[in-house]
Amino acid sequence: MEKLQKALLAWYRENPRSLPWRGEKDPYRILVAEVLLQQTRTAQAIPYYHRFLARFPTLKALREASSEEVLRAWQGAGYYRRALHLHRLAQEVEALPRSHAELLKLPGLGPYTAAAVASLAFGERVAAVDGNVRRVLSRVFALENPAPRALWNLAQGLLPPGEAPGEWNQALMDLGATVCLPRRPLCPRCPIAPFCRGRVDPGRYPGGRKREVREEALAALVLWGREGVYLTRLEGRFAGLYGVPLFPQEELPWRVRGFGVDPRFAGEVRHALTHRRLRVAVYVASWDGEGMVPGEKPLPKLMEKVLRQAQAFLAHEGILPFPHAKTHGVKPLEPG
Ligand code: ADE
Repeated sequence: MEKLQKALLAWYRENPRSLPWRGEKDPYRILVAEVLLQQTRTAQAIPYYHRFLARFPTLKALREASSEEVLRAWQGAGYYRRALHLHRLAQEVEALPRSHAELLKLPGLGPYTAAAVASLAFGERVAAVDGNVRRVLSRVFALENPAPRALWNLAQGLLPPGEAPGEWNQALMDLGATVCLPRRPLCPRCPIAPFCRGRVDPGRYPGGRKREVREEALAALVLWGREGVYLTRLEGRFAGLYGVPLFPQEELPWRVRGFGVDPRFAGEVRHALTHRRLRVAVYVASWDGEGMVPGEKPLPKLMEKVLRQAQAFLAHEGILPFPHAKTHGVKPLEPG
């Protein structure tokens, strides 16, 4: 075990990934990075990390912002509940607590994120087990579908004594992200291959049944008028953001009746989330009711796709694109 620990730490010190939060000691900045990394790939997360921290460099700055400003700074990163949790957390605490146990009580922090912040920022000896670490440890110990608690106990027992636990945790994450890859692990390059029991058949670990990605059929109703597009506050997974009415496809008839319109089908857009594939049928109708929201509102990426689809359809029909879409960062259509 000691040899394994030494080999991995030596590898990490020679091959650390160059990430903007490496060497960072400010717990708030580490927290922002870890929250982004919960559901966003490292390379994708980096620009949002910089943008969010440029806008809200401290917990205090975040506390004093409105939730709409926070959502706008997060725009494009997806999974907006993460941003709302960060905002709520900033209201709840003056400074980030220093222990894993206390961090766990904050909104949006699960065992992984709390452990990452506690170990990286405060040097607490606590294992941070994310998807990468789960895969690495399952292979090293030849575990099929290990239970989270058992895996965490194992990871905890593996923390080297006296070393910076944040370094160790990140070494495991980096190994999972760059060498112990899900599909084609690069075993010949792995510093701990000699200790790995799963090496003969890495594809077998961690195994278990994949969480099935379900498809969801939705409909979006783009109601456009002189003033722009009718926007509403979204609920559920897009809570806090704005968009056109979005609902399960089968609700279309009564939604349409509710607005008293006779919409036309403008095409379909697709959008992938972690455990869902959304297929959204876009309908358009001209409308002059109340509720055209002026000014910039934070929109999820899905809504940008929906508005672009509606715009393309209307342009094709010879109807000028609604003015509103441009103000939402929806790219104007190419002429012709
Ligand atoms: N994934 C999540 N947090 C990470 C970190 N601090 N370093 C590398 N990969 C990560």
